[in-house]
Amino acid sequence: MEWGMKNRLSHLIQKDGKALFLPVDHGYFQGPTHCLEKPAETIKPLWQYADALMLTRGVLRNCIDPTISKPYIMRVSGAVSVIGDMTAESIVTSVKEVIRLNASAVSMSVFVGTGGENKSLTNLGKLVDECEDYGIPVMAVTSVGKELEKREARYLALVARISAEIGARVVKTYYCKDKFEKVVDGCPVPIVIAGGPKTETQREVFDFVYDGMQKGAIGVNLGRNIWQTEAPVASMRAIQAIVHKNYTPQEAEDLYNQVKAGKA
Ligand code: R5P
Repeated sequence: MEWGMKNRLSHLIQKDGKALFLPVDHGYFQGPTHCLEKPAETIKPLWQYADALMLTRGVLRNCIDPTISKPYIMRVSGAVSVIGDMTAESIVTSVKEVIRLNASAVSMSVFVGTGGENKSLTNLGKLVDECEDYGIPVMAVTSVGKELEKREARYLALVARISAEIGARVVKTYYCKDKFEKVVDGCPVPIVIAGGPKTETQREVFDFVYDGMQKGAIGVNLGRNIWQTEAPVASMRAIQAIVHKNYTPQEAEDLYNQVKAGKA
């Protein structure tokens, strides 16, 4: 691996081999998402605990102080909306722009088992070709079919492996309770777990993050289950402790309660 690629990956994956990404890119297809109406305000108390942010160029330029010393992953796919065909994404940001805005990596969505399957995978191949020329890692944001009903290990493993075969350097996938190790073991590049829609309790998040990491994920790319919660900073710090300090779900919950009560 070349120096530039290694260096950029080291911005994202820390010396302990783990990673905590904070995505705030949801507006790219959802518009002003709940609790992300003003991204600068959402990010302000949280970014210091993240290893990297994930966002679009528009939010970066308008909401992020350029003197911030925090790596970020730029989402470069989009041109769809929540009221249209969400699987018909195109690449909407050039690699020249990615370099100009000093991103450490780029991300794009792939949709296996949908009408957008071939187009998104072809786009992934093209993006990887171009980014590899400049030592920029590509993270594949994977999804299968109409999302929730296909969050089973066999489908998640399928899309993760296909994305890695095409050249993604990191794969983001959803967690599944049953046989998640199959997803990790079948994918030759690091896996990070996304959160999905907000869970009923914070403990559910701590449980699945912990279990996913025990089964080989290197970390998380968690958005709504942090910034849509009652106590985002407490949630972020508890998840950071699971990712980087091997906290158990119970220890994370204790930390969460302490931070929430202003005692830590
Ligand atoms: C989708 O909107 C984005 O790619 C998110 O970055 C990704 O789904 C992770 O965010 P969440 O944990 O809210 O699902």
